[in-house]
Amino acid sequence: MATRIDGKKLSAELLTSVAQNAAEFQREFGLRPGLAVVLVGEDPASQVYVRNKTARATESGLNSTEYRLPTETTQAALNDLIEELNSDPEVHGILVQLPLPEHLDEEQVIAAISPAKDVDGFHPENVGALSVGKDALVPCTPQGCMIMLQQTLGNLSGKHAVVVGRSNIVGKPMASLLLQANCTVTIVHSRTPEPEKLARQADILVAAVGIPEMIGSEWVKPGATVIDVGINVIERDGKRKLVGDVDYAAVEPIAHAVTPVPGGVGPMTIACLIKNTLLAARAQQ
Ligand code: GUN
Repeated sequence: MATRIDGKKLSAELLTSVAQNAAEFQREFGLRPGLAVVLVGEDPASQVYVRNKTARATESGLNSTEYRLPTETTQAALNDLIEELNSDPEVHGILVQLPLPEHLDEEQVIAAISPAKDVDGFHPENVGALSVGKDALVPCTPQGCMIMLQQTLGNLSGKHAVVVGRSNIVGKPMASLLLQANCTVTIVHSRTPEPEKLARQADILVAAVGIPEMIGSEWVKPGATVIDVGINVIERDGKRKLVGDVDYAAVEPIAHAVTPVPGGVGPMTIACLIKNTLLAARAQQ
């Protein structure tokens, strides 16, 4: 049976060290590292994520502020808020929760955030830096996945990693980080013929597709390490339930190690966000 990779425990360890770092920052500079979290609209999942992010940030000693804007917010109004946060010396990190309502241009919003305060690592400047292996703010979810992989496997050099999904938030930066760690990297996506055949060659399988329990036993090589990035709400036996992109019960007997949902990648993402805010704050002082 596979080892369950405990994201809750690992994230708590990471948050403890970040909280110490935040306290040192406050002693050195006389202010707390500041994080601004912006949510536009009423998306229920986004509301939960944003609440968790600000709660963990506050617990870790950050000065965390939530900006909740109505769905009908204009691009100009959102840009004005970002400009204000860009020039606020008490704000070191800015996160605009995605997805945005349809009338807003996500690309333009991301580009408006100062790259130095872009704790999501989504700004083209940070994306480019990651892609050429320069110091950058690294997207939180893939960063959390790498910590779990390194904790489970040690050195990743030479391993074959298959990433399922090619989003800008997870799939693409995940592939960059795995490549930087000297993995052989394959990305499979919705247009890949027989993706499970490629996935079955993977020592490391990262699922980031957003389809509940899509990855069954036929996708997994015996002894592989499986990272499940999916957070999907389904209804089963008349109850709402949170499941990943991986069919945990089917994969558990085959894999070496698997991340659960909930309690896997999710808490690591938040811990990395807080770590990024500290890195950004130190770089700005
Ligand atoms: N929506 C889903 N994941 C993320 C994330 O990591 N950052 C932001 N800003 N929005 C998201």
